[in-house]
Amino acid sequence: MAHPKIALIGGGQIGGTLAHMVGLKELGDVVLFDIVGGLPQGKCLDIIQGGAIEGYNTQYKGTNSYADIAGADVVIVTAGVPRKPGMSRDDLLQINLKVMSAVGEGIKNYAPDAFVICITNPLDAMVWALRTFADHPPHKIVGMAGVLDSARFRHFLATEFRVSVEDVSAFVLGGHGDTMVPMPRFSTVAGIPLPELIKMGWITEERLGSIIQRTRDGGAEIVGLLKTGSAFYAPASSAIEMAEAYLKDEKRVLPVAAYVNGPYGIKDLYVGVPVVIGEGGVERIVELNLLPEEKAALEKSADSVKTLIDACKQLDPRLA
Ligand code: APR
Repeated sequence: MAHPKIALIGGGQIGGTLAHMVGLKELGDVVLFDIVGGLPQGKCLDIIQGGAIEGYNTQYKGTNSYADIAGADVVIVTAGVPRKPGMSRDDLLQINLKVMSAVGEGIKNYAPDAFVICITNPLDAMVWALRTFADHPPHKIVGMAGVLDSARFRHFLATEFRVSVEDVSAFVLGGHGDTMVPMPRFSTVAGIPLPELIKMGWITEERLGSIIQRTRDGGAEIVGLLKTGSAFYAPASSAIEMAEAYLKDEKRVLPVAAYVNGPYGIKDLYVGVPVVIGEGGVERIVELNLLPEEKAALEKSADSVKTLIDACKQLDPRLA
């Protein structure tokens, strides 16, 4: 059977890591697109030579032409600029909005049936704009944020409790940024929710609060250390998990930035919610019963996404 075709738009740190992971996991053949001549070609040549050692039979094509993504089953978008120390994700808006316009055009012309995963920041606003530019069906285009944010939360909790990260599940709602909403009630160690673990004396409320704050600042912490760019290994793993759920029709329940128009009282926004991902793309949005304070936090987060989307509309009248 033919391998699925996976187009990666942006061949930088995340794009290159994604390309490598697709080979290692034998998920499909890769087309790596970038505007910089030689960059995707060089990365593909490097990665494919590793196949001789790792044993993957993946086909790789580095390109500067959108025509090469034709018929892609999955498109993962990392094109744009990452943060530098002192920058917020929102500072990237103006530059990356223009990039989304070009990428949207490419997807519209060559990959209208693909499942699209956007990673470019500021995530929730960029995926909203990309959907509009590409005129893509909302259930076939999502943003990667919640999987990464909850992975960070899980890592910090597992370290704190000295238990395997495999036994920690964590839930995060809302936008990717300072207003993200970690959900202790739905975050567990082997099924035991965090509020119960507080009662059991495993952690104090204050300590949990500081872990939640570190999760919110998880991306900035890495930017501060790297100084020249932002996180790329865990973001790539997160997007691969989402792509795999679609390609293998796994019906995974994952937190993603999905198009929400009704659930949670949210209208026409991309925001982080739990969804079921299978062969239909986003097959279902899981609507939780939220406590008043959780609802308020989600509304605050949605408001900040809306502010960014309004800024996009100001910058590009085609979005209004
Ligand atoms: N079309 C295609 N590729 C582009 C375009 C464009 N219009 N503009 C820039 N690029 C490419 C750059 O040439 C670069 O190779 O996007 C790539 C981005 O790679 P990096 O700078 O290494 O950034 P990365 O760490 O991969 O992050 C990409 O994901 O997490 C977000 O905030 C992050 O928005 C950033 C994105």
